[in-house]
Amino acid sequence: MEALIYFLLGALLSLMLACIIVYVYLSKYDFRFQYFDFRKLFSGRFKPKQVAVYYDEWHNEYAKYYGNVIQAWRPASEDELNLYTLNQAGLTDGMRILDAGCGYAGPATYFAQHLHATIDAVTISLIQNTTAKDRIGSLNLKGSLNLICDDYNNWVAAAAADTYDRVLFLESFGYAENAESLAPKLYRAIKPGGELFIKDFFKLELPENSFDRNTHALAIKNMDKVYLYNTLNLYHTIYIFRKHKFELIQIKKPEYMFDEYKVVNGFQDNNQIDLYEGRPKFFIVEPLELRFKKPLQ
Ligand SMILES: C[S@@+](CC[C@H](N)C(=O)[O-])C[C@H]1O[C@@H](n2cnc3c(N)ncnc32)[C@H](O)[C@@H]1O
Repeated sequence: MEALIYFLLGALLSLMLACIIVYVYLSKYDFRFQYFDFRKLFSGRFKPKQVAVYYDEWHNEYAKYYGNVIQAWRPASEDELNLYTLNQAGLTDGMRILDAGCGYAGPATYFAQHLHATIDAVTISLIQNTTAKDRIGSLNLKGSLNLICDDYNNWVAAAAADTYDRVLFLESFGYAENAESLAPKLYRAIKPGGELFIKDFFKLELPENSFDRNTHALAIKNMDKVYLYNTLNLYHTIYIFRKHKFELIQIKKPEYMFDEYKVVNGFQDNNQIDLYEGRPKFFIVEPLELRFKKPLQ
């Protein structure tokens, strides 16, 4: 009996040791493993319901610091950003546009004020949706603006084929529940010749130096944790859309004068958010605009 107990204890200790060795080994070679967030346990992603609660709860803080546009990479003026987006995404009169993950519809309202277009602006947050509805009541719109509270994954899946001339994700594509399965649905919902415009932050390549590499991983993990995001990988994003027959027609950095994170810093400082946990800061993500076209068949 005593021998059996010693044997079991020995086996348990060996197993623990093996787990530690595997953990250390994987942490060294796969930074995602080292910084795994257990709230993403089952799908590896945050769920739309978790995101809805987050944006409802944080609504006042966003409104206070971000104004009407919840985008981190921005010039000093909201109107400049919205006009720039309107032009870059090629929005024109007569179009049917989907703004997926629209916040409280700051950009969508601007588009509807300046274009005779039909805009479906979808947010998962009920508070954002009602705030947008309250706001547009007093505004003069040229176009028609439909403010929808829904999960954009579902909205796109339910859209009739060839509905949209443009689909926009303005710092919101990282919330896609499953980008791989959303891509063919987007393809279906967009008209032939129509386009998908994604403006977002993409992970930079990992630094060579192991301290910087760890800091990079730490800051990305914290960024995802704080904003419930799934920070995008550029190559994977391009891969999934090409795989689903989209043509990549443009990729570039936004061309306006960046406001040096004034808005984001105010928001983070006021809420004691330090993505780098006291380490020296460096850029871990790059803001890019991606345009994909659904070819004319
Ligand atoms: C960083 S904010 C960007 C807001 C907006 N594009 C803007 O420029 O003001 C991300 C937005 O995506 C929305 N969102 C996140 N997941 C969503 C989902 N599954 N369906 C619809 N909206 C979603 C959030 O509610 C939030 O409004």
